[in-house]
Amino acid sequence: MNKFYITTPIYYVNAKPHIGHAYTTIAADVLARFHKLQGKDVFFLMGTDEHGLKIQKKAEEAGKEPRVFVDEISAEFKSLWEKLDIKYDNFIRTTDEKHIKAVSKMLQTLFENKAIRKGEYEGLYCVGCEQFLNESDLVNGKCPDHDIIPEKMKEESYLLDMKSKQAELIQKIENDEFRITPEKYKKEMLSFLKNNELKDLSISRKNVSWGIPLPFDKSYTTYVWVDAFINYLTGIGWDGNIENIPEFWPANVQFIGKDILRVHATIWPIVLMYLGFPLPKTLFTHGHILSGGKKMSKTLGNTISIDEMLEKFGVDGTRYLLLSAGTFGEDVDVTTERMVEKYNADLANGLGNLLSRVVTLAQNSQFPAPNFVQSQPKADQPMAEISNDSILKLIENIELGQALDYIWNIIKEDDKYINDSEPWKLKKIDPKKFEKVMEKLLNDLDKISMLVAPFMPETSEKIKKALETKKVEPLFQRIK
Ligand code: MSP
Repeated sequence: MNKFYITTPIYYVNAKPHIGHAYTTIAADVLARFHKLQGKDVFFLMGTDEHGLKIQKKAEEAGKEPRVFVDEISAEFKSLWEKLDIKYDNFIRTTDEKHIKAVSKMLQTLFENKAIRKGEYEGLYCVGCEQFLNESDLVNGKCPDHDIIPEKMKEESYLLDMKSKQAELIQKIENDEFRITPEKYKKEMLSFLKNNELKDLSISRKNVSWGIPLPFDKSYTTYVWVDAFINYLTGIGWDGNIENIPEFWPANVQFIGKDILRVHATIWPIVLMYLGFPLPKTLFTHGHILSGGKKMSKTLGNTISIDEMLEKFGVDGTRYLLLSAGTFGEDVDVTTERMVEKYNADLANGLGNLLSRVVTLAQNSQFPAPNFVQSQPKADQPMAEISNDSILKLIENIELGQALDYIWNIIKEDDKYINDSEPWKLKKIDPKKFEKVMEKLLNDLDKISMLVAPFMPETSEKIKKALETKKVEPLFQRIK
């Protein structure tokens, strides 16, 4: 069967999840559901990144053992995904015993193959990024993503040889064997790689206990930017043995935010090349959710609480508002006021109102059972069979905001069609025409219920039910 493997980044457990994390996760869930509806064999991986200095420090501040601390926060992520109706196939934690073993085995292989060697490392360490930064990355001496001054450090360390693979990497990005999209990020990475020789990468730290000990030198640990990548393999059952490429590998789509593009477009593919594994097919980079013009982040403290959103807008409302806030890929600035406006306009008045109008008209009429009942898609029926190409292409190309626009255009057109054709009048004066008008509207709603299914699973079910039973409860209550 046609396989489809999709991943999100694994989230740091230094604090509770916020809507930035929900954003990536919902988008991946939409894509996973969409491909499932296309009849593919989908694997959707999700998880938490639990090692490192940042998390070790947070646990200390909270007066908790790191293990207890990460268990608590990881559980919060898991329960949020449940609330948001995220249907993943596995939830990987970097503290899982199996993951640790596989990472350790892999490092041993890289060490034996001389991809890793001991050396000295000097650099500027940003604990927010959990990586060394270049002078040129800083803005006013600070890490622009975390607004902190990185720490100058010099220590003996184990280093991964990056430059030996640089030419091959450039080639694979250029010919789209490793496709970085949207296009501007491919250009950005190619220009970076062509203008900078990749430095050896420090993969270990000495006095950071909360990590995975290097198998060949236990006084060092590794975490995040080698450890964490391997989740994409261990999450689908990899045991660390380079002979055993997991069945679902390579990933079809890996979602990442632009802040972690560079590591995902350099370290990650280079590790894979050393292992002799194929590279992911598509690395899709999205922009950030901003609040007041700045990336919404736990470190900056400008987050909108996801619980607040869920309470106000419900699960499907939250999923819709996040994905329709702008072009997926670009930065989007969100405010609660704008979201309330959009909720009322698109959901309460738009979709909700259209369904009520049509079902109410259908209720009070006695025309024979319309075609729509026969056109109800079956659970195993691929979406392609009931829909036209252009929206399928939009979703396939991960143009999620545009795909929603496409659906909402049908809604707007149908509203106009009702106003123009005035079916409530036709009922008496021209029953045949009334039937025709209703048939179109019911069929459109039937189609809408299918098209919104990956985005708003519960709403899709509610629409189907209302069409079948000719009974309707308001889908979305207006918010004052
Ligand atoms: N743990 C690393 C990823 C390792 S993957 C092998 C990490 N974690 S993170 O929790 O800081 O961020 C995870 C993802 O969430 C990133 O893709 C990041 O871009 C995304 N987001 C975090 N804040 C965000 C917004 N405000 N807006 C959109 N996405 C955001 O990096």
